[in-house]
Amino acid sequence: MNDIIQTLTQKHDAPFFFYDLDGLDRHLKEIKSILHPEVKVWYACKANPLSNILRVLNENGFGVDVASLGELTQAQAAGLKPHALIATGPAKSKKYLSKMMDAQVSTIVIESINQLKDLNEVAGSRGLKQNVLLRVQLAWDESLKSVLGGSSITPFGLGVEDWKKVNLSEYAHLEVLGLHCFQWGNILDLSKFATIWENTISQCVSLAQYLKIDMKVLDLGGGLGVNYQEGTELTFNEVHSLLLTLKEKYQLKEIWLELGRFTVANFGSYLTPIIDIKDVRGKKLMVTEGGINHIARPALVNEAFPCSTLSLSKEATETFSVHGPLCTALDFLGDHKLPRNTQVGDWLHFKKVGAYGFTESMPYFLCHDLPGEICLYKGDIIQSRTSVTSASWLS
Ligand SMILES: Cc1ncc(COP(=O)(O)O)c(C=O)c1O
Repeated sequence: MNDIIQTLTQKHDAPFFFYDLDGLDRHLKEIKSILHPEVKVWYACKANPLSNILRVLNENGFGVDVASLGELTQAQAAGLKPHALIATGPAKSKKYLSKMMDAQVSTIVIESINQLKDLNEVAGSRGLKQNVLLRVQLAWDESLKSVLGGSSITPFGLGVEDWKKVNLSEYAHLEVLGLHCFQWGNILDLSKFATIWENTISQCVSLAQYLKIDMKVLDLGGGLGVNYQEGTELTFNEVHSLLLTLKEKYQLKEIWLELGRFTVANFGSYLTPIIDIKDVRGKKLMVTEGGINHIARPALVNEAFPCSTLSLSKEATETFSVHGPLCTALDFLGDHKLPRNTQVGDWLHFKKVGAYGFTESMPYFLCHDLPGEICLYKGDIIQSRTSVTSASWLS
């Protein structure tokens, strides 16, 4: 893969993303080969909505979880059929709910009383019954934080006591298939999953009994982590075995997962040329052509993507603070050990950027170019998008 990336950097002179879709294809086939018929994996589109990625998922029979009209349109354009679409997200206006019903999205996750009322009305006005899951947000003892909220109170769904006040028989146009609960992201430790899922499942089973829901589906969301540092990775096999144990213990019919990071993170790279190298007040600094305008995650969660140079040099390494081009100290891509003889004009290669990379970034600040996106697909190199200058979007 390094050879392909080396060749691409010789042909390009600006930052770009590279996705190994053949690697993604093998990963998806491996997941499929393990899956129990009553454990279903959806792809959380927000991790990376690139059309070619969605196509590979579709070819492998994976459905997609969308969280906006843009994601819905993108998934449809990539060929996903209504039965292969579900929708989550706290911001569902009546207009958006109608669009989802136009698109015949198979299951809509309800996250508020207004969503419940609005969707019931939209479905009723069409004389239809819409499949839904109710999103539950649990209270946790821990004070741990997570981008999904963890133990904090967030807009994602409603608490157990909030749902208990709802009389579901008032919503005749909704078919409640079950519950949805997801609060913890990027978990690498199986025993942590065991604790989180056991608590989640037992509370959801009790709530379903209270609400008299015949729980056909429990959606546990995403959260399977990838390791951005050195060390072991979570395997799908071990996660799946844990799910089967819990499924049996709690007599669950179907378990759903919506996997973003675990599906695509490992299959994306981000390449950027080095613009400057300098010593500043005793520190080695590097300034790169692209930064958090292309990969914002390091600034958002204070965790760098793994980084190396493309050279196979055996030169001793030293630590460089790597900064992007924006006029804010937030544009920091991490401290990285790189060969001492790295020069201006060399490329930096950031790995594991397939998830929460480009579309989670802040591309407009300072009017730099948007990066190109290039894929390896069935052995061929495909340019999904060339880089785009600010003249095309500034008014
Ligand atoms: C509702 C929902 N499902 C799934 C995911 C994907 O999570 P992950 O990337 O941890 O698999 C997210 C991420 O924010 C989410 O909000």
